[in-house]
Amino acid sequence: MEISRFTALTWSHTVSPSLHLPQPLFAREARRLRVWCVTDQSSKGNQMIISVTGATGFIGRRLVQKLQAENHSVHVLTRSKSKAELIFPVKDFPGVKIAEEPEWKDCIQGSTGVVNLAGLPISTRWSSEIKKEIKQSRIRVTSKVVELIKSAPVDIRPKVLVSATAVGYYGTSETQVFDEQSPSGKDYLAEVCREWESTALKVNGDVRVALIRIGVVLGKDGGALAKMIPLFMMFAGGPIGSGNQWFSWIHLDDIVNLIYEALSSPSYKGVINGTAPNPVRFSELCEQLGHVLGRPSWLPVPGFALKAVLGEGASVVLEGQRVVPTQAKKLGFSFKYSYVKDALKEIIS
Ligand SMILES: NC(=O)c1ccc[n+]([C@@H]2O[C@H](COP(=O)([O-])OP(=O)(O)OC[C@H]3O[C@@H](n4cnc5c(N)ncnc54)[C@H](OP(=O)(O)O)[C@@H]3O)[C@@H](O)[C@H]2O)c1
Repeated sequence: MEISRFTALTWSHTVSPSLHLPQPLFAREARRLRVWCVTDQSSKGNQMIISVTGATGFIGRRLVQKLQAENHSVHVLTRSKSKAELIFPVKDFPGVKIAEEPEWKDCIQGSTGVVNLAGLPISTRWSSEIKKEIKQSRIRVTSKVVELIKSAPVDIRPKVLVSATAVGYYGTSETQVFDEQSPSGKDYLAEVCREWESTALKVNGDVRVALIRIGVVLGKDGGALAKMIPLFMMFAGGPIGSGNQWFSWIHLDDIVNLIYEALSSPSYKGVINGTAPNPVRFSELCEQLGHVLGRPSWLPVPGFALKAVLGEGASVVLEGQRVVPTQAKKLGFSFKYSYVKDALKEIIS
């Protein structure tokens, strides 16, 4: 079975309502988060203006909430204003500017920083057209952002670009440990990540670039977990495949905080792995998930079931890589969730 390549890019976020899983974050949740964000981190004092591509996605939505809670200005760069306006209604997100592509230039010029998260989700069936679009969507948006930053007059040019990439950069292995110095893998997702990263690095030398190689993001409202939980409920959970494959995860709060730090701290530059300090084998993830859901972890979830909900993106979970956050630790980044057990408890509570 193959699930691990999906660790590298992203999951789409459909959740079965019948399972009473958390619903999308809107007003009530946004208010709760505002409190969380404000109490969670001290403001650095300097107000930033941040343009975000992919802001309407799983990570982006939470990042926008965090930036707003810390009193920064946010420009949502989207393909669809009407979709973004539903996600960020004015009454809950006053001052958030929403812009479609022709207006991106005006948003980026004058921004302090840009966060680049856009890309077609990988958890789909991978026809050759889809594979092309998984790569091209990322290269296209990243190139556009880089061109707009480069062409901005110096006095209104953003100072920092924080661009997403993924742990799929390293390829997969059951035995190796990967840090930021490790070479890239040979598979399709490794190739996507290499090209995505090299496109972001084409921005001018005076712009600080942080490339965040993101692991599987665990959060309430989407991502891998939202898709896996219904399967656990149906099959009583259990390791998928041998269970020996590695699962390099990170809690949504931590990836958002890491991106936030990368925006505001000049020492954050180059490649930074966005993974928790303690990746787990898949069998352990399943065991912990079983505990938290109150389901014994003994009946393996068949690979075909996972592929049915995740498409070839399931391969990200069925293979895997053990990625450690050496740079984030060197930079002194403080993880709220170092252990998957604590992350799952918080998410499923
Ligand atoms: N979530 C994870 O576990 C994970 C792991 C590793 C890496 N990553 C990477 O981190 C980034 C953000 O992840 P996420 O989970 O927040 O992603 P997401 O929920 O899938 O959102 C990505 C956003 O990208 C834009 N987008 C979608 N299809 C596109 C296309 N064909 N062309 C251009 N833009 C498109 C959409 O924004 P608009 O519709 O507003 O334009 C969408 O909201 C992604 O690039 C992902 O690959 C995520």
